Amino acid sequence: MLTIPIILGSTRRGRQSPKVARFLHQRLQAAGVQSELLDLADYDFPIMEERLSKRDDPPPRLREFAAKVAAADALCIVTPEYNNGIPGVLKNALDYLWPEYARKPFGIATVSSGGFGGLYALSALRQVVIGLRGFTIPAAFPVSNVEKAFPDDGSPADASLEKRADKFLAELIWFAEAIQARKQKDAPAA
Ligand SMILES: Cc1cc2nc3c(=O)[nH]c(=O)nc-3n(C[C@H](O)[C@H](O)[C@H](O)COP(=O)(O)O)c2cc1C
Repeated sequence: MLTIPIILGSTRRGRQSPKVARFLHQRLQAAGVQSELLDLADYDFPIMEERLSKRDDPPPRLREFAAKVAAADALCIVTPEYNNGIPGVLKNALDYLWPEYARKPFGIATVSSGGFGGLYALSALRQVVIGLRGFTIPAAFPVSNVEKAFPDDGSPADASLEKRADKFLAELIWFAEAIQARKQKDAPAA
């Protein structure tokens, strides 16, 4: 079974992105993937002073977060767009780790209250993922007008979102399976 956690990169008061993250989480589970929501608001990491590998006094729960990223076959990130980029809290959390990301596929979902779905954030995060030595998959899940797309109870307003989400997640699963199979060739025989 594949393991694909979802990193939620919004900690803003009154944030909308959790609705998108919970929705993708449910759809990943429905697709038979083991998934957990890693909400950066719960982790509350301080400003990064050094990577985990160089710290003997890591912030609380950083090792736990690192272990979940290390155990993942792929990662899904849900990020809002702030000032044409990604939130500092997300970049800060990502910068703490390094070996944990190597050769992992990343699927990116972006969230915006406007009509462009956070495409600048998508582009910015793709650059970061390459820096982390991950693989940014070609498919993405941009959500425009999030408050209308996911009204209060958090279910999508329109069935087309489900269709788009499943197509995006199917691509992420495809890459996760392909890379998992290749990594198994490198693994020492049991
Ligand atoms: C500091 C800040 C900057 C923002 N900048 C942008 C932006 O550049 N482009 C955009 O489409 N929306 C922008 N927005 C609106 C967000 O897309 C909107 O708040 C959305 O709900 C973000 O997700 P969140 O609710 O999880 O924070 C910004 C919002 C904040 C708080």
